[in-house]
Amino acid sequence: MPALDLEAARDAIRAARFLFVLTGAGVSAESGVPTFRGAGGYWRERSFQDLATPGAFARDPRLVWDWYLERRRTVRACEPNPAHRALAAWSERGAGLLVTQNVDDLHERAGHRGAVHVHGSLWRNRCTACGAERDHDALEYPELPRSPCCGALERPGVVWFGEALPAAAIHAALEAAQRADVALAVGTSGLVQPAAGFVQLARDRGARIVDVNPERSGIPAHVSLLMPAGEALPRILG
Ligand code: OAD
Repeated sequence: MPALDLEAARDAIRAARFLFVLTGAGVSAESGVPTFRGAGGYWRERSFQDLATPGAFARDPRLVWDWYLERRRTVRACEPNPAHRALAAWSERGAGLLVTQNVDDLHERAGHRGAVHVHGSLWRNRCTACGAERDHDALEYPELPRSPCCGALERPGVVWFGEALPAAAIHAALEAAQRADVALAVGTSGLVQPAAGFVQLARDRGARIVDVNPERSGIPAHVSLLMPAGEALPRILG
């Protein structure tokens, strides 16, 4: 990694008046949470059509819930890594907004306040009848969960393929992306819309784009740091 790129990234972030941060599965990889498309990623062995669509849940809610419960158990056993901690420390002093595609809670467990979860949370259940949501942290469901409001089946409180993102989250993300003079993408393939489009929007509005990913991603970056987030972020956000 050329030292000049690290310096350019650090200088851009230090000078930012408003920083837009987009994180993806790669920010949690060093904590032990699998990514989706990389080596060992979920979509290498399983198909999202069977596990992460409304149709999959309608066909086999037990199969879908068991996969989400397995993911809850995985995340419960993981700890935030230096990338989550560097972002949490930055959020205490810097102006900006962190938008994450991740459904884990590692940003929050690192002390981050106000992260916007555009794909929902592993730790929320949603009523399939009325849409009411509640926090739930069970790691097993001998009986599939039913909502306390109307007794209907609950589903994971996440966004599946083919579904719209929560309106409030998308509004906050769009507003921040348009306002940003610097955007930092961390650990995302940049392939899933609309999240990847937030960075393009920031760029279209004149923002400088920094990408942190050990592999080349689809993020339209001015500066690409080809290194793991846990190594890069303490150096560019410190
Ligand atoms: P992906 O699995 O598509 O991409 C993860 C990215 O992280 C890859 O580009 C890796 O190279 C990179 N990566 C791996 N280890 C890293 C590390 N230590 N530091 C930095 N980067 C690292 O995950 P996302 O782009 O987040 O959506 O995927 C976006 C969405 O697609 C997910 O939210 C999920 C998925 O299907 C839904 O479930 C709706």
